[in-house]
Amino acid sequence: MSELPLAILISGRGSNMQALVKACAEPGFPARVATVISNRSDAAGLATAASHGIATAVVDHKRFADRETFELALDAAIDESGAELVCLAGFMRLLGADFVGRRDSRLINIHPSLLPAYKGLDTHERVLADGARFAGCTVHFVRPAVDAGPIIVQAAVPVLADDTADSLAARVLAQEHRIYPLAVRWIAEDRVSLYDNRVSVVGAAAAAEALINPISS
Ligand code: GRF
Repeated sequence: MSELPLAILISGRGSNMQALVKACAEPGFPARVATVISNRSDAAGLATAASHGIATAVVDHKRFADRETFELALDAAIDESGAELVCLAGFMRLLGADFVGRRDSRLINIHPSLLPAYKGLDTHERVLADGARFAGCTVHFVRPAVDAGPIIVQAAVPVLADDTADSLAARVLAQEHRIYPLAVRWIAEDRVSLYDNRVSVVGAAAAAEALINPISS
């Protein structure tokens, strides 16, 4: 099977990008990283990607008069790489309906909460403030509204009594690094279908693959 070419879009650290790069390096993984694109030239993840020999590009939103022209430039950079699936990984720009529509269901995102709860920023602080007992992360298809779209996979972790936002973020991040490659694998293996707003994954093993043992996370 040929490998699905990915464009990974980042704005910062890029640890989810690194998790995808690592997964793609495993023998038999059905995807490869065609490019890593950032809207910020100072994103730490760019150097990480380059150190793995991956092509990188910067499309600086500040250089464009409006969102539309920025997104057209982003499109051009993605298309030039040959990528067929776009993975947002800490990409801190809202994408407009035209961009999202052009990519259709070839655009996915990872968010550090159990969506549809805790959309937006500061998820871990808000989980702690609410006294929620579980937190987690979600990989979903992107729709124009913020952190909205059909859910592909989630992982849950417990909130512990002595958690700080940082300790909770670290526990959730470990699961992000696990489920993002899992979602990409399922899509690359053509196992993911959409019925209205619901995602189904072919293969009885899919659900079992997504199960986690929070204690070992
Ligand atoms: C992650 O928590 C991701 O879920 C969110 O932004 C953060 C990016 O972290 N969308 P990193 O750049 O992947 O390390």
